[in-house]
Amino acid sequence: MCGIVGYIGTEQAAPILLDGLDKLEYRGYDSAGMAVYDGEKLQYAKARGRLKILRELTHDGAKLPGVCGIGHTRWATHGVPSDKNAHPHFNEAESIAVVHNGIIENYLKLKKMLAGKGYKFASETDTEVIAHLLDYYYKGDPMEAITKMMHRVEGSYALGILFRDHPGELYAVRKDSPLIAGRSAHGCLIASDVPAILKYTRDVYFIQNEEIVRMTDQELAFFTIDQDPIEKQATTIEWDVSAAEKAGYEHFMLKEIYEQPRAVLDTLNPRIREDRIEIEELGMTDEEIRAVKRLYIVACGSAYHTGVTAKYVFEGLARIPVEVDLASEFRYRNPILDEGTMVIVVSQSGETADTLAALRMAKEAGVRVLGIVNVVGSSIAREADNVMYTWAGPEIAVATTKAYSTQLIAEYLLAMRFAKARGTVTEEELAGMLLDLRRLPQQIELLLDHKEKLQRFANRYVAAKDVFFIGRGLDYAISLEGSLKLKEISYIHSEAYAAGELKHGTISLIEDGTLVAAVLTQEDLYKKTISNMVEVKTRGAFLLAVTNEGNTAVEKAADYVIYIPQTNKYFTNSLAVIPLQLFGYYVALGKGCDVDKPRNLAKSVTVE
Ligand code: M6R
Repeated sequence: MCGIVGYIGTEQAAPILLDGLDKLEYRGYDSAGMAVYDGEKLQYAKARGRLKILRELTHDGAKLPGVCGIGHTRWATHGVPSDKNAHPHFNEAESIAVVHNGIIENYLKLKKMLAGKGYKFASETDTEVIAHLLDYYYKGDPMEAITKMMHRVEGSYALGILFRDHPGELYAVRKDSPLIAGRSAHGCLIASDVPAILKYTRDVYFIQNEEIVRMTDQELAFFTIDQDPIEKQATTIEWDVSAAEKAGYEHFMLKEIYEQPRAVLDTLNPRIREDRIEIEELGMTDEEIRAVKRLYIVACGSAYHTGVTAKYVFEGLARIPVEVDLASEFRYRNPILDEGTMVIVVSQSGETADTLAALRMAKEAGVRVLGIVNVVGSSIAREADNVMYTWAGPEIAVATTKAYSTQLIAEYLLAMRFAKARGTVTEEELAGMLLDLRRLPQQIELLLDHKEKLQRFANRYVAAKDVFFIGRGLDYAISLEGSLKLKEISYIHSEAYAAGELKHGTISLIEDGTLVAAVLTQEDLYKKTISNMVEVKTRGAFLLAVTNEGNTAVEKAADYVIYIPQTNKYFTNSLAVIPLQLFGYYVALGKGCDVDKPRNLAKSVTVE
């Protein structure tokens, strides 16, 4: 859950590394560092804190001259955030430098072995064992040392490696952590993610597990762990570098909130042909769909919340049993994966460690796995039997918004496709639903127009201690997301409750003025939820309601109402999420929080 970059070429390396790290800071930002070969030595700088501290320390890279270097931005796993634990890490002679994203699971065992041979450790990290292990195996041939090291370490890694005694070369390897490489007119690059090198090249090589990259200023070569050369095809990245920049918005999160109409449209359009849904990438015939007896939707965080929504939609529309699981639970609970089971894993990054492990477990059990993924070429995208991409474009803010919205769209489309194959909805109903789906982008735009109203309301809650989100059915699913959006960026404690459940304990937390946000988009449940709103109101709560246009009855119980446009009852989460995202954003903004990079979090959770 860190970001790595590397450059070797004819330009000064440090500014290029800083530029790349800037694009990767979303992956972790508690410390940063670089090592650059200056013609004689591996010079380095590292510092606890944001990248800007490293920039200041190195005078924007000027203090580390040289044309070959590696860089790192960290999200601490082993060892507190500190200068000492920041990467790069070195062997004792400082002739080998390593940057690492991932976790070395057997590092204690390796550390003991190396310590027994006289190696001294300068940090608390797992990464440092790699530098010493490389030193242990290095007898003049970097490839030999690297492959021997790969055979000894267990866990996940994307590594950038420099050997002082091989100044014209930069090495990189990968296992279960993302790594890409590319070549520009002025040299070769590696990185954890595409935006870091997009300024220099659009042709990107995705490195697979246990592959090795050897780069010189002109040549990019790939090898297996047995040192056999590999031919690789580059993938041309179609999206523009500006898609990964703020474009005048104060934060990536706000920009991404505003990109939702386009992202929803881009995810819908390729799957709608002349009023029919066609999901070619599903790779299933009607007969195969009908053979599925049970679905598992497995994911983490917000992606899991879309799964909760999808459960209601699949069960309601396609009448198929659905279990939704947190990937970290699913992988250890011995689920029943028998014939007739299909697993859908959902992930923006496509690299979430628990989701990837769940996918592998399902595949090992012989079950079909469909990935709903945003990042093209990511591990989940590559390993799933079939992949349905969400076309949200790069999402940089740690708090997901547009990826969440596009995941919902992919799940609606799938549920409709299943319903059609299973004959549980009529052609007429499907046609009506398609019309509603197509209206969503415009309706989202309408909701975005009310952002000032939301900002004024949010400003009243910057000092809130607790906030509760309640709803029933699909409204419970959206409450989960509303609550996570608020707490992860504003640090205000909040919880989501099935509206009928609050009185079984949690209602004791309601005090005078506690904000309770009630979501009511399911007409058949309006009255039930209004009763629950009254229960908390009589105990002093302030009631915010998010409901469908026309449900004015809610005004009897609510203190403040936000109306969302009418849509099919299964799609309401796509609209209700907009005011909830804006609410979370503006509360965090009002509190002066670091909206795009909340404390303790990282965008891509590649550790379990
Ligand atoms: O990349 P993924 O979709 O697999 O990530 C899953 C979660 O880590 C992610 O949704 C997380 O909960 C976000 N911070 C929510 O905003």
